Amino acid sequence: MPDLIMGIETSCDETAAAIVEDGKKIISNIVASQISIHQKYGGVVPEIASRKHMEYIIPVIDKALDESGKKITDLSAIAVTYGPGLIGSLLVGLSVAKAIAYAQNIPLIGVNHLEAHIYANFLEHNEIIPPFVCLIVSGGHTSLVYIRYFGEYELLGQTKDDAAGEVFDKIAKFLNLGYPGGPIIEKLAKEGDPSSIQFPRPILNDKTYDFSFSGLKTAVIYHLKELEKRNKNIPVSDILASFQQAATDVLVEKTIKAALQFKAKQIILAGGVAANTSLRREIKEKANLLNIKVFYPSTFLCTDNAAMVASAGYYKFKENKKSSLSLDAVSRLPLESNNY
Ligand code: KG4
Ligand code: ZN
Repeated sequence: MPDLIMGIETSCDETAAAIVEDGKKIISNIVASQISIHQKYGGVVPEIASRKHMEYIIPVIDKALDESGKKITDLSAIAVTYGPGLIGSLLVGLSVAKAIAYAQNIPLIGVNHLEAHIYANFLEHNEIIPPFVCLIVSGGHTSLVYIRYFGEYELLGQTKDDAAGEVFDKIAKFLNLGYPGGPIIEKLAKEGDPSSIQFPRPILNDKTYDFSFSGLKTAVIYHLKELEKRNKNIPVSDILASFQQAATDVLVEKTIKAALQFKAKQIILAGGVAANTSLRREIKEKANLLNIKVFYPSTFLCTDNAAMVASAGYYKFKENKKSSLSLDAVSRLPLESNNY
């Protein structure tokens, strides 16, 4: 009998439920996005997010079951994101998951959201084998992690200020382009010249694997303000292409450096910004020259979804790593705290 895991994800602004068979086969994957609701505020409003999760969660779970053709009694376990994320949002998914686990008498498996982003890769790529280096780039995180064995995470570096996705979002907000900024900026940047403006590449050449993006964000916003002040024409696409190039350069360079130092032959990208085609292309080009393979999830699995939660949950389930029904939501939850 295959193991059917239901995943539930409510850590930010997507209410999601999915059913995955044996950690690999996505049977259903439902995401109810709140983007249009938060768009007018230029970012996620936590209070609104948790209310919307309450409204959406049961219909989303019902739809995931419906589309899968499975019954709730067919589930082997229920996996749920319990952190990191917005506490009020996390609590909605976690409470429902606990109720289902209790009522169906099946294991509850708490999953770290960052680990789930990594496991999005394992839904599609069988060839990934540790050791490898993973760059997690999302709206809330930018971390470089070394994975010597499955489930064991060594944090090499992380952002000291803004996350990469956050900077895409903030620049888009400044320009009134909408939310989330990543896909919008990527689209506009395609029309621009990435070498037109030399924005800073913060801490590119230091000895750490840390990142810093707030200086880059300020430089872009300052540049825009200056042009505005002088009533100059604003070449938005050139500016966005140059910004994207600066951010990509830092992410690619540090990730490749880590892979070389740790002699990893594989690099994995994870999180919403891993959907960025410029980042994907550039890291692949550089890694290819060094005989390092690069993997990333399909675009729809890069951003928040519950299939990745079910995938991470499946491997925990197989190792009997069940959570107690008293599991609490944790807003700040380091990936390394999950080491087996
Ligand atoms: O992983 P995710 O869905 O949520 C978090 O866990 O944060 O990531 C969302 C982030 C947002 O900041 C969004 O602007 C960014 O990922 N993003 C992108 C792209 N698609 C989403 N950034 C750059 N290029 C993209 N194509
Ligand atoms: Zn995420």
